[in-house]
Amino acid sequence: MKYFIVTYGCQMNVHESEKIAGILENLGYECANEREEADIIVFNTCAIREGAEDRVFGNVGNLKKQKKKNKDLIVAVCGCMTQKSQTAQRLLNTFPFVDIVIGTFNLPKLGYYIEAVKKGRQLEILEEGDIDESLPYKRTSGENAWVNIMQGCNNFCTYCIVPYVRGREKSRKPENILQEIRDTLASGKYNKITLLGQNVNSYGKDIEGGMNFAQLLREICKIEGDFTVSFMTSHPKDLTDDVIDAIADEDKVEKYIHLPAQSGNNRVLKLMNRSYSREKYLEIIRKIREKIPNCRITSDFIVGFPTETEEEFKDTLSLVEEVKYDSIFAFMYSPREGTVASKMDGQLDDKTKHDRVNRLLNLEKRLQKEEGKK
Ligand code: 5AD
Ligand code: SF4
Repeated sequence: MKYFIVTYGCQMNVHESEKIAGILENLGYECANEREEADIIVFNTCAIREGAEDRVFGNVGNLKKQKKKNKDLIVAVCGCMTQKSQTAQRLLNTFPFVDIVIGTFNLPKLGYYIEAVKKGRQLEILEEGDIDESLPYKRTSGENAWVNIMQGCNNFCTYCIVPYVRGREKSRKPENILQEIRDTLASGKYNKITLLGQNVNSYGKDIEGGMNFAQLLREICKIEGDFTVSFMTSHPKDLTDDVIDAIADEDKVEKYIHLPAQSGNNRVLKLMNRSYSREKYLEIIRKIREKIPNCRITSDFIVGFPTETEEEFKDTLSLVEEVKYDSIFAFMYSPREGTVASKMDGQLDDKTKHDRVNRLLNLEKRLQKEEGKK
């Protein structure tokens, strides 16, 4: 029996697919090289933008033929998209051949659901749950080992679906994280640890008397061995001096920070509920450059947020010019049902969003070229 996993979205999902692979291998499945040879196909989905959801609908739809040929093929859809019950229902209604729709919290029971489906039931399970420490992994990212340190997000940036589909912040216990890293390094197969969380800098706030993120970083660096540590993603409001100091001091920590600014304009930042100003953001960048002179810095930007004017967009351009990032990711604002921004007046048209994203990416290309010449 073979499995095939299709992963969309961020590194969290890449890592979660490693857990799905681990669960399936424990059940006796082997990894298929191609979708066509699989007995079970799992779509691990992303809901961050509409485009990501459209791709899932397209690709799940394409399975109709394969399912006709092989009636025993099991099709499962999980991840952020399915955590929204409306989308889960739409998936089941549009594609009756989908057997299992499970939310982000229900992976531990995947084996049980597969058995139920073999007995002839279509399942939709969307309950909230805790981080399951006992899930096996099958690491698939070469010498890099992803290590999840927390799940969820409390920030409710007004454009973002994550707090709705991943729930509130829940940190893993430091001893479990440290043990996982020790075991991973002891296998001798990995020399890079990447810590994952939607907002790693608020690590530990939900554990009484626990460690904060800077302390966790320092504890990880005490583990013996030849390895490096990096992490993502950082929220500017929580990137405190002690974290910057830990990155600067600890040789094992990679000198790299992904620090999404999202916009360079204060009115837009406020509407986004980002809790920092352009000035505060630049102050953090200044500190990083001062304490970690060789630090690579990257960022995410959203253009075409509701009511964003041409002048306000130009503030984003000027921020990018000023910071001189190593690279940036630029996204057109995509309204997500249930979020505050999706209900705001002043939604912009696609043409304006396309135009702005192209101008931002062109600026980025020009800056990269100039940097390259230097
Ligand atoms: N529309 C466009 N981009 C978004 N992001 C998050 N939500 C949206 C949305 N609704 C972007 C942010 C975030 C990155 C992972 O995705 O820039 O940092
Ligand atoms: Fe979304 Fe904001 Fe949380 Fe990041 S910090 S996951 S953008 S709500």
